[in-house]
Formats: sequence, structure tokens, C-alpha cells
Amino acid sequence: MPPRKILVTAALPYANGHIHIGHLVEYIQTDIWVRFQRLRGHECVFVCADDTHGTAVMIRARQEHRGEAALIADMREAHLRDFAGFDIEFDNYSSTNSDENRVLCGEIWASLRAAGLIVEQEVTQLFDVQAGTFLADRFVKGTCPRCGAPDQYGDNCEKCNATYSPAELQDPVSTLTGSKPELRSASHLFVRIESLHAFLTEWTQTGGHLQTEVANSLKGHFLGEPLRDWDISRPAPYFGFEIPDSPGNYWYVWFDAPIGYIASLKEWCSRTGQTFDDWWPRGDDAAVRGAEIHHFIGKDITYFHTLFWPAMLHSAGFKLPDRVHIHGFLTVGGEKMSKSKGTFVRAATYLEHLDATYLRYYYASKLTPKLDDIDLNLEEFVNKVNSDLVGKLVNLASRTARFIEQTGLSATYPDDGGLFANSAGESENIAAAFDAGDFNGAMRIIMGLADRANKYVDEQAPWNLKKDAARAAELQNVCTVALNLFRQLAVYLAPVLPRLASQAGDLFNRPIRRWSEVEEPLTGLPVRPFRHMLTRVEPARVQAMISASTEDTSLGDTPTNAPPADGPEALAAEPLVATCTIDDFVKVDLRVARVVAAEDVPDSNKLLRLTLSLGGDDRRQVFAGIKGVYRPDDLRGRLVICCANLAPRKMKFGVSEGMVLAAGAGGKEIYVLAPDSGAKPGQRVH
Ligand code: MSP
Ligand code: ZN
Repeated sequence: MPPRKILVTAALPYANGHIHIGHLVEYIQTDIWVRFQRLRGHECVFVCADDTHGTAVMIRARQEHRGEAALIADMREAHLRDFAGFDIEFDNYSSTNSDENRVLCGEIWASLRAAGLIVEQEVTQLFDVQAGTFLADRFVKGTCPRCGAPDQYGDNCEKCNATYSPAELQDPVSTLTGSKPELRSASHLFVRIESLHAFLTEWTQTGGHLQTEVANSLKGHFLGEPLRDWDISRPAPYFGFEIPDSPGNYWYVWFDAPIGYIASLKEWCSRTGQTFDDWWPRGDDAAVRGAEIHHFIGKDITYFHTLFWPAMLHSAGFKLPDRVHIHGFLTVGGEKMSKSKGTFVRAATYLEHLDATYLRYYYASKLTPKLDDIDLNLEEFVNKVNSDLVGKLVNLASRTARFIEQTGLSATYPDDGGLFANSAGESENIAAAFDAGDFNGAMRIIMGLADRANKYVDEQAPWNLKKDAARAAELQNVCTVALNLFRQLAVYLAPVLPRLASQAGDLFNRPIRRWSEVEEPLTGLPVRPFRHMLTRVEPARVQAMISASTEDTSLGDTPTNAPPADGPEALAAEPLVATCTIDDFVKVDLRVARVVAAEDVPDSNKLLRLTLSLGGDDRRQVFAGIKGVYRPDDLRGRLVICCANLAPRKMKFGVSEGMVLAAGAGGKEIYVLAPDSGAKPGQRVH
């Protein structure tokens, strides 16, 4: 088969939140698929970008009292660090807030206009006068118009499942400012997508672009009735690109986000001297030229990628995707990720406690081409990694390599009863499973081979041969077989476990570069001293990760930034206090306090337990998330400022009866506020 030319994208993560283990289902999966294609000798380019625009980024930047540019720059750094920590390697990582993207948006927009697909309509929406912005559904709460349940979001009721428009909510309140929003109307631009109904039916139902269950569900739901116009603009203020022929209006984030795929590819082409048109062509013959285009996404963003995006590409004459690979959502212990249970684990938190290799393997072992949710069961995680990776794989090498450090591999490949050939014979089955996104199937075949290899080692018992000098040649042969079987498995697993593959390459000073290396055993080579490859997962580390994640969000006094949000409009934003009257301010009882005792909370990596004296016998226990920066010794005897009338808060380690004030962004940047000397504990701060 001639090499294929493949372009791969993963969904562009929102710049309003950090990468978490749910996202990683997608990025690890895509990275594995890309590495697999390259190992097979195909030309494969993997591009991505941060999805920077929209209301959530705008609001978060306001809450943090800084501009959007600063926020998205920081978030980009954080995302790139997280991806690198999991060995997720992009050829290009761009931003939707780029000039390249703006230009492409303009071109695609012009095509939609020229095709007569853009129409203008009045939209009545709730408007927050204090914040000066229209409110997306998720930024409004109120009483359900159907069942009367209080505190429901603007789009649907969690109690009775009614769906409605925010204007129907009773007693609506803006979650941004807590004020009562008013109804205002503005004109929006819409894409008349119904004009492309026939095209979309054809594209989704034929040609194998989608998993069958996706195609069927689209046919049953959306495509079964006329397609509703798609609201594609937002009035100012909005963080995004202003629409050139409609001043004061901005492209909705979901217009410019997928165009970011093309923009990122374009950026890669300019950087590497490639011809863009050879990759993502446009024009009459686009379908038969260019690269295969593969998008990887989660099921929540199916419509954007299977209806709106093909519609946009089609109208602008760009090549359409060959396949949209859609995966399910991560659950932990069978439930939705939860901040209070500590299962909403950030990528960075995971890496503080555990090796990325574990999660790459675990996800690989769970992924199938189905849309079912993927469950991370922590007990299974520990067992699987320990039994498969350490017990079966690494053990093959660690049990045998040291016996032939002196002699190297046998000069000719010994008789192994057909083991190596048999394992090589599975090559195309394993490859087909990888290619189809059935990583679970691939892992099962590979682990079956590992079982047979281990059985061989157990039977041959090289540790016994070692005792008998007369059987040195036999020992060398047995170890030659075992190490070749190990290396073969390392080749098969190289897309999933790049670090292990590179260690396996080091062992013989022969880096693994091609899938076809499974076909020929190595002989006559020196074997380098065996170096430790992977440790067992300790359940205590997993527990520590969960505890650390529980703290991240449930503690009022942990200096984290705004809560992570999962969608452009999904933000459980704390009220943004636009102004604070003197009456509001005097409600806060701030006092000078002396730290009379300070101690470490051993099970927490953030918290110190402080005992504060507020004068007389008023003593308070307060937990402060400042461990990373202050040692208990630094604090004992010091004066601090404490909020004294905060409702007591029950936390994992005890009740916190106040809060110590500190400045700074969190992390290593925390500065505890202190009054000048002379202040007395108990004095009120005015
Ligand atoms: N910004 C959009 C995508 C734009 S693509 C043109 C977005 N961003 S996201 O950060 O919310 O999600 C990025 C990807 O991660 C999406 O494909 C999403 O489905 C996936 N996941 C986010 N949370 C997930 C889980 N809990 N589980 C599995 N995948 C998850 O959507
Ligand atoms: Zn209701």
C-alpha cells in the first residue's frame, strides 16, 4: 500500500479552563492514532489550537481583572505544558485568535453570503444592564416556568427536564451580577442551513464519514425535519472577530472555532514550506485531491462537526472531512466527573502524583469505535497497569536482560517454537484494530501475546539456567527469545507508550521507527545494562490525587482561580461584583489576628491548620491553602488579617472558622496580608 497522506485534528480546547482527565480521553486517543499512522510509514500531520473566543473567556477575564489577551496567553502555556506532560505531540498548536484565522473566516463568510445563505432576524434575549451584556442561557437562573423549581438555568429545568427560552424563566437573575436582567432585542445573522438539507443527508448517510450510530441518530433526529436557521452572530460586547460587513456584530465562537483547524494547518504549512493546497484543497476537484482529513471529537459537539461544519466547508468549496471520529464521555467510578468527589482531576494534578504512561495505557485499553462513555475505575486502573504493563510487559525484559549483558544477543535467532513468527503474524490484525479506533481490541491481542511470552520465560526459567555454567548457550538463547518478544510488543505498543518504546530501543541501541520491525528478530547485538522502566502504581498515590482534586474546588480559602467551565456558555460563575456599596463592605468583619499555632495537614498538599487569636479568648481554627509557600514556622507569632464572620465551613480535615487574607494569583504566588506592628489582635479593620 502506498503511504497515505493524513491530516488529523483534535477538538480545540476552550481557553477558559484547564485540561482535565476528561479532555485527555480525546487528546491521548488522537495522539495514539497519529503515532500509529506514522509508525506504519504514513505521512500524518496533527494540528490543534486553543479555542479562545466567546462569552466565557470574556467573563473570566473580567473576573480576573485583566484583558482577554493575557488570559488566553496564560491558558495556552498551561495547555501546552499539560499536553507535553502526557506525551501528546502536535505538529502545530495555534490559536483561533490569529490573523490567519480571521482571514479564513472572512473568506468562508463571503462564500456563505455569496450563496445567499445568510439572513437577518431579530432576537430577543435577556440583557444584564449592570454588566452591559446579553446573557447566554447558562448565565441566567430563575424559577422553572413549568414546575416552579427555583434556581434553574435559562435553557432547561433539572427538576422536570422542561426546555424553554430564558425569557420564559420566572424571576430571572443574571449569574454575572445577581441583577435582574431585562428583555432586549438585537438583530442577529443566521445561516439558512435548510438549503443544504439534501447535501447534508447525502454526506452524513453515505461514504462512511461517520460511525453508523451517529449517522442513524442524525437521520432520526435533526435530518428528519427541516433544519432550523443557525444563529451565527453575537452583538457587542463579545470577545471574538467583528463581522466585516456587519459592524458591531461578532462571529459566534462556533463559527470561527472549526475554521481554526484550517488556520492551524495553514500556519504549519508556512512554517514547514508545505503547500497548503496539497493538504486541504478548495475548488471543483477538491474531493479527489489533498490529504485524508480526520477529526476527533467528543459526542457533545457532534452537531457542530457533522452538520454546521460540513455545511460551511461545502459552501466555501473546501474539501470535506473523510471521517469524524466521535468518542463518549469520561465517567469516574461510573459517575460524571465531580468536583466535590475529587474526580474532576486536572491534567496537572494527575501529573503531580502519577506517571502519564499509566493513563495512556488505561485509556487505550478502554477505547473502542463506539460512542459509549469510558469509565475510569480507579481500582481497575491500578490493577490493569500493574498486571499488564509492569507484570507482563516490563517483567519480560527485567527478568532476562541482565543475564545477557555480558554476551549480547545470540548470533542467530534460536528455535522458539514459533512464538516470534506467531506474534509477527498478528501484525495486520493489530494494525487493523488501531486504524479502526478499536484500541481495546488491539490491547487485547497484544496482551495475549505477552501472556504467551511470559509462559515461555516461566517454562525456560533462565534463573535456573544461570546456575549451571554448562548451559550458558542455552541461557543466551532463552534471553534472546524473551527480549525479542519484548521488543516486538514494544513496537506494537509504541503508539500508546512512546516512552517505553524508546527505552526498549535503548536496550539494543536500535530505536524503534517502523511497525515492520515486528517482522525480524534482532541477533548478534550487544545488550545494554537494563535500566528501570516503570514502577507499579501505588493506590496511595491515586488516593492522594483524588484528595488534591477535592481540595481544588471545594475549599473557599484555596486560592484557585475561577471555576473551570466546560463549554462556551457553561460557566457556574460566581457573581461578578460590579460595585460594592459601603453597606456591603461593612458586612465583612475583618479583624487583626495573631497566629498562635500553625501546623501542617499531612494529607493535604495545600493546607495548613492555623489557630488564630482574635483577642481575649476568641480563638479560631482556620485552614489556609498556603502550604506551598509558607512553612508553619514562618507563621507562628505573626499578625494576619482574618475575615471573622465567614460562616464556618466543614472540610475534610475539620471545621474552618474564618479566612486569612492573602494577595496573589495562587500557586507559588501567595502573599499573606499583615498589619503594621502595633496592631492588636481583635482590632477591626476599616
Ligand atoms: N472548544 C470546543 C471545541 C471546538 S472544536 C472546533 C470544545 N472544547 S472543550 O474544551 O470543551 O472540549 C474539547 C474536547 O474534549 C471536546 O471534543 C470534548 O468532547 C472533549 N471532552 C471534554 N470533556 C470531556 C469528558 N469529560 N470526556 C470525554 N471527552 C471530553 O468543546
Ligand atoms: Zn421544572
